[in-house]
Amino acid sequence: MLITKIFKEIEMKKSFYFRAFLYCTVIVLLSVSLTGCKKKSDLRKAADKQGILIGTAVATDQLEDPKYYKTLAENFNVVTAENIMKWETIHPRRDTYDFTESDKLVKFAKKHNMKVRGHTLVWHNQNPNWLLSQPWDKDDLWKVLEDHIKTVVTHYKGDIYAWDVVNEALDEEDYRETFWYLYLGPEYIEKAFRWAHEADPDALLFYNDYSNEEINDKSNRMYSMVKKLLDDGVPIHGVGLQGHLSLEYGFDFEGLYMNVIRFAELGLKVDFTEIDIRIKKPESEADFKEQAVRYRKLMEIMLAIENANSFTVWGVSDAHSWVPQFFQGTDSALLFDREMEPKLAYHTLVETLEKGPVKLNYSKNFADKFRSRKAIPPFKAHAVNSAPKIDGTPNDKEWAKGVTYPITFNQLNLYDFRTPPHDDLWGEWTVVYRGNTIYGIIRRHDDKDRTDHKLDYENDNIEVFFHLGDIFAQLRSIVGQGWEPNSYEGERNIAWNKEGTVCEYSVTLPESDLTGLIAGWNISLSDNDGKDNRDHQLYPITGQNDGWQGKNLGTIQFVGNSPRVPEKSRVVMPFIAAAASDTPEIDGTFSEDEWMDAIKYQFAYNQLDSMNQSVGFNNNAISGSWGIVRKDNFLYGFVLRKDAKTVTSNDDPELNDNVAVYLEIEDGTAVVFRSVVGKDWESPALSGSHKAQWSSDGSVLEFVIELPEEAASRKMLGFNISLSDNDGGDKLDYKLYSITGENKSSEAKGLAELELQL
Ligand code: XIL
Repeated sequence: MLITKIFKEIEMKKSFYFRAFLYCTVIVLLSVSLTGCKKKSDLRKAADKQGILIGTAVATDQLEDPKYYKTLAENFNVVTAENIMKWETIHPRRDTYDFTESDKLVKFAKKHNMKVRGHTLVWHNQNPNWLLSQPWDKDDLWKVLEDHIKTVVTHYKGDIYAWDVVNEALDEEDYRETFWYLYLGPEYIEKAFRWAHEADPDALLFYNDYSNEEINDKSNRMYSMVKKLLDDGVPIHGVGLQGHLSLEYGFDFEGLYMNVIRFAELGLKVDFTEIDIRIKKPESEADFKEQAVRYRKLMEIMLAIENANSFTVWGVSDAHSWVPQFFQGTDSALLFDREMEPKLAYHTLVETLEKGPVKLNYSKNFADKFRSRKAIPPFKAHAVNSAPKIDGTPNDKEWAKGVTYPITFNQLNLYDFRTPPHDDLWGEWTVVYRGNTIYGIIRRHDDKDRTDHKLDYENDNIEVFFHLGDIFAQLRSIVGQGWEPNSYEGERNIAWNKEGTVCEYSVTLPESDLTGLIAGWNISLSDNDGKDNRDHQLYPITGQNDGWQGKNLGTIQFVGNSPRVPEKSRVVMPFIAAAASDTPEIDGTFSEDEWMDAIKYQFAYNQLDSMNQSVGFNNNAISGSWGIVRKDNFLYGFVLRKDAKTVTSNDDPELNDNVAVYLEIEDGTAVVFRSVVGKDWESPALSGSHKAQWSSDGSVLEFVIELPEEAASRKMLGFNISLSDNDGGDKLDYKLYSITGENKSSEAKGLAELELQL
């Protein structure tokens, strides 16, 4: 506007020189402000400002590509040698070192005022044949190792600020039985650090590994190991958490936060050394969004913790990533795409850095983390006097004492847990027990069977997971086949019917009687519709598809005649109110876009029927799904509802078709928000604004609830949501929840939890 105005004036003055002068000024101003913008969005600048080292793995041959060269130099202040400092490159014969490539990298870094991270001095991979192929005399091998470390570190003395001295010395159970370990024993680790320190006392020395990011068995062992090294006076200055993550699995950021803190408290630096966040193909917009969120959360942790300030991604662009080759079926893990365009994750990182440290909603307290939350009530297995016959032909009487539950949450998608349409995939399960043996039946419907995939788990299959005492077992049976062999030693049987719609099974546990026990439990139904990867894996609870690691299991209670009920149930994943980027409009019209941030869940458990909580396969009476997001003190939610017959004429609103939200604002009491189809919330016992808006056909509800300040500042809120259905009588036919229970939510009993994300 202003510019046109000026031009008009110029026209009036008809002064050519003046006009030319102004054009130039405008162009200069525009380009200055444009480069200003670009500068502002430069990752490296933003990182420098926060004192964060932002690094990437580099392959020197890529430096020939001017686009790569420029992107690298502009956006990063540290480089790691992706491969060229590994033994096979740098030490090709016993008496020959070849620094050609690595010198190039160091030269590049110097030219662009970047630091260099050395990777890696001792590893079990990418070693030369001369090293691996001959039998070694132990003393001789010690000399080889010492010579390697001292030669390489000395060569780069003063040029390499930090070394990944030992890489991946631990495996899932113990010390990894590497070449080094088998010849030299675990002392090779400490020796490596001492020699590196002798060669360059100023270099920072790191132990680097993967799957050590969260608090888990491996990071616990790493903690003990480095603590011992420190106690023994070994010169170790930090740990590297590689950070090769996948959107296929959940990630426990709070666990990461606590983990970083505990290493930092040992006085160690904690670096993220090899971050990439891979996505299963084909990648969706939502995937890229979730990926950006994860990058942001990683960076927020770096910004929050003093000893953590080094954030290295494993490659510049998706074209330079090891991911597609090493993790088949996944891709797009880095900050730039194949055309070297910055991705959402890149912009998010820049924003996060520009914003600087933010208050994190994580607890620092281990006890807090593992405190018993309000878990989903355990599933129930009742005792039977005579064992069902495991023959694939169910007889209703055999299973009459068992409670039937739906299998309803698709854990292959971490932000949309909804069940696919029943004719695509549907399932329900029942378990009873006798003495020490579990008997189960799974009924399933699937429109397309696939059982010929070379990877067992990518086929149509059922899995049963249990955890009791020291035993964790995952049993799998591909549709129509027996249990796969695995390490579980107890007796087990399984039989499918011809059609593959019913399977009966039994598993014997090493207990004399299960009565009263509560065991970790899960069950899953996988569906492959003919593609290379499964389309769905349904479970009866939400979770992060890591049941196979013994994580996020539900519980099952062996009820018997005199139940021994423990005081607390197991922690299971809460429902999540993700942070909303935009405020949804509460107008009764739903769009996927508007509710993109919401994690989506299914209504599935009919809590009015204690023996059969599954709605069944052919029942179209009622179904629905929901999602909630949080913005500031407000919860915004939607419900999608399919009802064969809508009834709202009852005098008692509770007996009409309705949606109810239960919030435990104060311990032990629940505030109930109820909205009869077509109507606003009934006046709830909570001040603050609130609104419920239905679509005219009653298929969509959108709502908002303002939380009291104190409740909104909490991380977890006792919570439930129900969908009630009356088909014409004077009582409800169904009341569907997303967890099992006894319909006591309004008394604050059997609530789930809602995690309020920031
Ligand atoms: C990978 C490289 O990215 C690949 O190019 C190479 O073929 C194999 O090694 N952990 C590490 C890195 O410490 O050195 C690995 O790098 C990835 C896993």
